[in-house]
Amino acid sequence: MTGGVGRRFRVQGPAKGLRGSVKVPGDKSIGHRALMFASLAEGRSTIQGLSAGLDNRSTAELFRELGVTIELGDEHAIVDGVGLFGLSMPKGALDCGNSGTTMRLVAGLLAGQRFGTRLIGDESLTKRPMRRIVEPLRARGAHIAGRSGDKEGEIYPPLAVAPLIEGEQLTALEYASPIASAQVKSSLLLSGLYAAGATAIREPVVSRDHTERMLGALGVPIQAVGPMVVLDPVGWDRRWSGFEWTVPGDISGAAFMFAAATMVPGSDVTVEGVGLNPTRTGILDALRGMRADLRFMPKGDAAGGEPSGDVQVVHRPLAATMTAGEMLTRMIDEVPAFCAIAATAKGRSDVRDAHELRVKESDRVATSAEVLEAFGVDCTELQDGLHVHGGARLEGARVASRGDHRIAMMAAVLGLVAHGETIVDDVECVATSFPGFADTLASLGADIVEEDSP
Ligand code: S3P
Repeated sequence: MTGGVGRRFRVQGPAKGLRGSVKVPGDKSIGHRALMFASLAEGRSTIQGLSAGLDNRSTAELFRELGVTIELGDEHAIVDGVGLFGLSMPKGALDCGNSGTTMRLVAGLLAGQRFGTRLIGDESLTKRPMRRIVEPLRARGAHIAGRSGDKEGEIYPPLAVAPLIEGEQLTALEYASPIASAQVKSSLLLSGLYAAGATAIREPVVSRDHTERMLGALGVPIQAVGPMVVLDPVGWDRRWSGFEWTVPGDISGAAFMFAAATMVPGSDVTVEGVGLNPTRTGILDALRGMRADLRFMPKGDAAGGEPSGDVQVVHRPLAATMTAGEMLTRMIDEVPAFCAIAATAKGRSDVRDAHELRVKESDRVATSAEVLEAFGVDCTELQDGLHVHGGARLEGARVASRGDHRIAMMAAVLGLVAHGETIVDDVECVATSFPGFADTLASLGADIVEEDSP
């Protein structure tokens, strides 16, 4: 894994104790939803703590194309919502950039409109599977199609959504999802805002529940019990008012700070104001299972009933552990960070039930294994995960991100504990979720810079 132009991280290891208190960008999942629900609200909403990452920017830009006025600051947005039935037909294709969440959620929303749209994305997004939303949306009467591609029967972007014609309405839907996916669940729930009857979804295990919490806080008739959620709009006036929300820090970004602090001896790091929604905190449970020293200072609820708090991590040698099933779903985006941590924990750590990792921004089972091996970590790639044999000496390496922000950040934190210099190429993608990542680590005392590739 070498080569590349553009930006790169240069890391000098091994680092000595990292210390201090940092903030991370706003939660990406919550930010997308806050922008969407503000666009569909009646009146003005103010969103504070919004990530400046490119994924949330893609969502904001897309809603502007749909006729919503959005004023974007560095970390806030003022949105003049148009109401559930106030979106207008865009002039051209709607660009979701690198963001799968934007494409899948917005597809559900657009399925209920009386104008047609086309959803496009970058090279990585264009390879991601869309049948998971296209089929259930069609089952309720949506006119949505995509492109055939690599895998037979799969549907890929671009997606075309044709309008519902006069007299047509999406129907009720009962859907047992074969995968635990908040993007699928949310896409169907958003289409359900326009449907004639209830949307009832059951998942194998509960995925992140931001959509349920946030819509519930806005007065939408939605109820969740374990892995079952029902949105029944019958008798509801299909409107909500503008709101003022603060987005908590992204636990998925914070995970790399937790990783750095647990991996580098002598560290004591606090991440302030992190989202602590229990459907997202699998990484903290995994760390507890590794006997990490974690301390919490709860700060009450942020945006739409989302719990948050400060998390302090004090270094202590870790034991190997295992993640699978329900816990794995609650840390699905944190597996690259977990793999880096596992590389320094003595013994074999296991990641199982992680098939979904193969269809993220990269095939994260394969790319995580590649990065671990580049640093000299003994690991085995499994169909649904990895075995990571941790505790051996790591050597600095030269690796590329494969266009995946979380793989770039994983390599950077491994570089902190490796001996010698590490170069991570093609790190522009980190801006999708964590602009300022290298500076944040450097502020804790890490020797890392982001620079132009020569
Ligand atoms: C997300 C859901 C997850 C996650 C993604 C964000 C969301 O994807 O990996 O980064 O905001 O709903 P799946 O729902 O496809 O597992």
